[in-house]
Order: sequence, then C-alpha cells, then structure tokens
Amino acid sequence: MAKKIIIIGGEGKGGPIAATIEDNRHTFGDFTYEVAGFLNDLEIGNTIHNFPVLGGTGEVARFAEQGYLFVYAIHMLGNNYKTEELFRQVNVPQELLVNIVSKRAFVAHNAQLGPGACVLVNGYVGAGAQIGACTLITSHAFVGHDTVVGPLSHLAVCCVVGSRIEIGKVADVGINATVLEKRKIGDYAVVGAASLVTKDIPEGQIWAGSPARYFRDVKKD
Ligand SMILES: CC(C)(COP(=O)(O)OP(=O)(O)OC[C@H]1O[C@@H](n2cnc3c(N)ncnc32)[C@H](O)[C@@H]1OP(=O)(O)O)[C@@H](O)C(=O)NCCC(=O)NCCS
Repeated sequence: MAKKIIIIGGEGKGGPIAATIEDNRHTFGDFTYEVAGFLNDLEIGNTIHNFPVLGGTGEVARFAEQGYLFVYAIHMLGNNYKTEELFRQVNVPQELLVNIVSKRAFVAHNAQLGPGACVLVNGYVGAGAQIGACTLITSHAFVGHDTVVGPLSHLAVCCVVGSRIEIGKVADVGINATVLEKRKIGDYAVVGAASLVTKDIPEGQIWAGSPARYFRDVKKD
C-alpha cells in the first residue's frame, strides 16, 4: 500500500514535489507514495493543485501520530534565516522525512541524499555528490560530481552547479545560475537568477550578475 505523504509548504516548491509524486505513480507505475495533502498556514481549508490543505505547519505531531510521512518544502529565497527558524519551529521528526526522487532524474549510484532531500524532473546529482537534509534539487538543476550541498538549501530550475563545490546550509542558487567548479557558497547565501559565480560567496550574502558580484545581505528580521 502507498505511504501517505504530507507536503509542508505551498504551490511554489510543494506543487512540483506533488507533481513529481503523481508523475512517478501514473507515468512510471511507482506507487510507493501518494500525496495526502499539504500543511500550509495561509491556505487552511483550501486546496493546492487539487490536494487538500489539511492544516497548519504547527500540526505535524498530530499527523505524525496518524502515520503520515512528510516532505518539507518551504524555502523562502532571500529570507534564508527565517526559512531555518520556521523549519526549527515546525520540527518534523527526521525519521518521518522521505526522499522524493523523480523517475526522470539522475542520481549517481554513490551520491548521498539526506533525509527529506528531493530531486525533481530531470534533476542531475553527480557521482559522489552529497545533498543535505530537506534540500530541494528542482527540475533540470545540475549538481556536479563530489559537490556537497548542506541541509535546507534550494537549487532552482536549470541551475548548473559544477564539481567539487561546497554549498552551505539554507542557501539558494537561483534560476539558470551557474557556479564554477570548486567554489564555496556560504550558509544562508543566495545566488541571483542567471548569475555566473566565479568567486566564493560569504555567508548571508546575495550575489548576482555575470560575473556575480555582491548585491546585498540576506534579510535577518
Ligand atoms: C538577486 C535577487 C534576489 C534580488 O532581488 P531584489 O532585491 O528584489 O532586487 P530587484 O528585483 O529589486 O532588482 C534590483 C536591481 O537588481 C537587478 N537584478 C535583480 N536580479 C538580478 C540578477 N539575478 N542578475 C542581475 N541583476 C539583477 C535588477 O535589474 C534591478 O536593477 P535596477 O536597479 O538597475 O533596475 C533576485 O532578483 C533574484 O535573482 N532572485 C532569484 C529568483 C529565483 O531564481 N527564484 C527561484 C524560484 S524557484
């Protein structure tokens, strides 16, 4: 029987995860998981992509007792400190977090995915790469070999993260951005959309452009 998954988040990041589970089921006949619904404080009682919003983010314990499993999908780009604070408050037991990996994605045999890490359609995770807990590798995002991405980070669609890169925790790489090999991106840092990262990016800073340059700090309030 399929395990029932609750997605914590909204249509932006949670929607593509729900669609990936549906695609795995209906296109590939993989019935490991089914989407029971969402937890979202702003949409209680509504639906997200036809799935019910079952409650708020404070209700994880109640649903955990009922046997549900979870995917954490709240990544607020530019509000990275807040993203981590909310994650701590929601407090999903690590053993109840599942990996959603699209049947259309590539994850190398010796790559590692932490609890709750997801790889969506046409995502690529190269040999020896390590993806942290609850990190989201979205559609067409590329992670080169031996790159390490910390927990709760987010690699947006079509970004290219080369090999032997170190990305910290709760960091974002924007849409269509490119990070050259062996660079370091600090905790809570953001790479702007379509940027080319040629230098290391310190913790808590947003860099953008080609080549990417310091843009501003990530909000702390
Ligand atoms: C870098 C970023 C965080 C800045 O956001 P912001 O502070 O709201 O900045 P604004 O949109 O007000 O833009 C301010 C200026 O920076 C420029 N700018 C914004 N983003 C830029 C980028 N990625 N590259 C180059 N310049 C950029 C704007 O053109 C604008 O220039 P101007 O003042 O000359 O008009 C944002 O633009 C970005 O790239 N976000 C990533 C989006 C993304 O990938 N989302 C993933 C969703 S899954």
